[in-house]
Amino acid sequence: MAASALLTSITATALAPALPRPVTTGQASAVPSPIIRARGLGRRFETARGIIDAIRDVDLAVGTSEFCVIVGPSGCGKTTLLRILAGLDRPTSGTLEGCAIGGRAPTNAMVFQGRSVFPWLTVRQNVAYGLKLKGIGRRGRRERADHLIEVVGLSRFAESYPHQLSEGMRQRVAIARALAVDPDLLLMDEPFGALDEQTRFILQEELLRIWEETRKTIVFVTHSIDEALTMADRIIVMSAHPGTVRTTIPVPFPRPRELTAVRSDPDFAGLFAQIWELLRSEVQSARLTPLGDRP
Ligand SMILES: Nc1ncnc2c1ncn2[C@@H]1O[C@H](COP(=O)(O)OP(=O)(O)OP(=O)(O)O)[C@@H](O)[C@H]1O
Ligand SMILES: [Mg+2]
Repeated sequence: MAASALLTSITATALAPALPRPVTTGQASAVPSPIIRARGLGRRFETARGIIDAIRDVDLAVGTSEFCVIVGPSGCGKTTLLRILAGLDRPTSGTLEGCAIGGRAPTNAMVFQGRSVFPWLTVRQNVAYGLKLKGIGRRGRRERADHLIEVVGLSRFAESYPHQLSEGMRQRVAIARALAVDPDLLLMDEPFGALDEQTRFILQEELLRIWEETRKTIVFVTHSIDEALTMADRIIVMSAHPGTVRTTIPVPFPRPRELTAVRSDPDFAGLFAQIWELLRSEVQSARLTPLGDRP
């Protein structure tokens, strides 16, 4: 943990001179060297209640090593989008390109909210699980798992089972497990949503540090504007159901980041207000219009 202590001790001091301008068009083409690119992505569900367009016309590109955060009203299709990016579901319209890395498609791992670990496996076995599937030998698995268990601060609990851990510790196991397979793209669906505020802050700090060390490409869904501003290089604001990209907001805070430095940055309040205004209008329009009446 020495390297991480060093990283978190660097205080971010440079300030951006003005609020960045939101970008409303050209999302898929504006990102240099994207690892993944969605164009006109849609997902329609046919249910007993009728047709539900969960997402529609989503244009989104995520750059290599970018920390991209998605916010949007409940039910706007964030999980649906993430599942499609993960290859767990297929779009019913549009295209999704995984941009080749060294001639192959990018790999991914997903961290869900609160249910990403196997209760019958120890912490070490959970973290090593994906490595076994990749055919990595026993010794290699153990070394890699123990390194990541240390990165997330759980070395003392390597032999523990998930029920012997707190919720925050279980989420750390889930993050370590996702990192273990060294995915090109890490997809996180409200990974800290169910945690108390202090645990959330600690895990945010840890994820910031892990990002500094690994420069993983991350797509992270949250309901918290605060969390989005703390973590993101770029925030994608989605419209209410059917979800589409309403606005993209670049986040100017320098890295390495510290929670307190971000919150005391003069741009923080303005960006918070800008995103909240967008979200408020989306949440209100979602409440006023029944699902079936939406265009
Ligand atoms: N398998 C499915 N079958 C039918 N409808 C679905 C299915 N999955 C999602 N939906 C619908 O698609 C819409 C988007 O759901 P999704 O879970 O993606 O939203 P979300 O933005 O992740 O919401 P939340 O913020 O509450 O997690 C919702 O109206 C939901 O009911
Ligand atoms: Mg969701």
